Amino acid sequence: MKITLSIIKADIGSIGGHIKPSQKLKEAVNEHVKSKGLGKGLLKDFYISSTGDDVAILMSHQKGKLDSDIHKLAWDAFIKGTEVAKSQGLYGAGQDLLKDAFSGNVKGMGPAVAEIELDERPNESFIFFAADKTDPGAYNLPLYLAFTDPMHNAGLMLSPKMEGFKFIIMDVSHTEADRVIELNSPEELYDIAALLRDNQRFVVESIWVKNEDEQAAAVSTTRLHNIAGKYTGKDDPVALVRVQSDFPATGEVLSPYSIGHFVAGFMRGSHTGPLMPSKANSTISFFDGPPVVTAQAFSMREGKFTEPADCFDHPFWEYIRDQVSHKALEIRRQGFSGCAMLPYSELEYGGIVEKMKKLDKRFKIKEETVKV
Ligand code: F6R
Ligand code: MG
Ligand code: MG
Repeated sequence: MKITLSIIKADIGSIGGHIKPSQKLKEAVNEHVKSKGLGKGLLKDFYISSTGDDVAILMSHQKGKLDSDIHKLAWDAFIKGTEVAKSQGLYGAGQDLLKDAFSGNVKGMGPAVAEIELDERPNESFIFFAADKTDPGAYNLPLYLAFTDPMHNAGLMLSPKMEGFKFIIMDVSHTEADRVIELNSPEELYDIAALLRDNQRFVVESIWVKNEDEQAAAVSTTRLHNIAGKYTGKDDPVALVRVQSDFPATGEVLSPYSIGHFVAGFMRGSHTGPLMPSKANSTISFFDGPPVVTAQAFSMREGKFTEPADCFDHPFWEYIRDQVSHKALEIRRQGFSGCAMLPYSELEYGGIVEKMKKLDKRFKIKEETVKV
């Protein structure tokens, strides 16, 4: 049975700053998707959750990727949620809905989207990731390690089923159209690493079983400041990863998140901070962060989901969260200096551009140092 999994997520307003959406907002989104999607037979199933200030709609259906009915359903649900956000005085109401009218699909309109069309296995298992206060490159390292490195994926050594994966990597600085490259692991591992080291420019778009039409992973590649041309919040990416059997085991996909690697985002989308694996529906706090990632695993049969298993809700991750808190404090101690803040091109606030222009005029050349 062919099933498409679609996640569409947006920040449409939150309580007390950029912390978490209200219960009423989530209920409005839920109600719309339930009546107009499930009720009308458009969807097989759906699930609503939040990560920091973002609301994500996970849907299963048979309409394929980039389907306008599915995308419009999510867009309209976010409009309903925005109405509630406005009525409650939530902060940043409708923030990620960057266009006035829906056209075709939500790509380039603000919300993040990740989709996989699959031939459903009898025991289909997948993980839905959502990150807040960071950008899509945050998934580069964990996906690279989970799909290519036997230090995390023991199956690459032990299982005859995994012979390698194809990475489709997008150059997100090319805004006129999607610019992608296909590279195979393990043969082109160093080339994959050479691109993925640059999290702000090159982003894993999808991963496939090598030489087969079988998709293993999808990541949302939206860069909001590339759409709006100015600060509109961080991109806060979502991802889908199929697990077990021909794919990495659930624990192999989760393993790299124990690193708590440094990512772009944190306060005002302009800093560097460690990515904290957090429980589903978790909030944001210290220095508008730290950047968080949630992971919910599902089983699915004929498009119907089980309840989620919250992957980072386990005593092991308490220890990791303590370590990540330590890393967050360490980098915060150096404030604005050097690598603690993002380079000029990545700063999310335009104000600094004005400031630099003003300061530039005040620079003077010391005449006695002019070379003749
Ligand atoms: C980062 C983020 C927050 C805001 C900050 C200021 O992605 O959402 O750190 O940038 O709280 O928010 P504004 O500019 O909306 O007052
Ligand atoms: Mg926000
Ligand atoms: Mg957010």
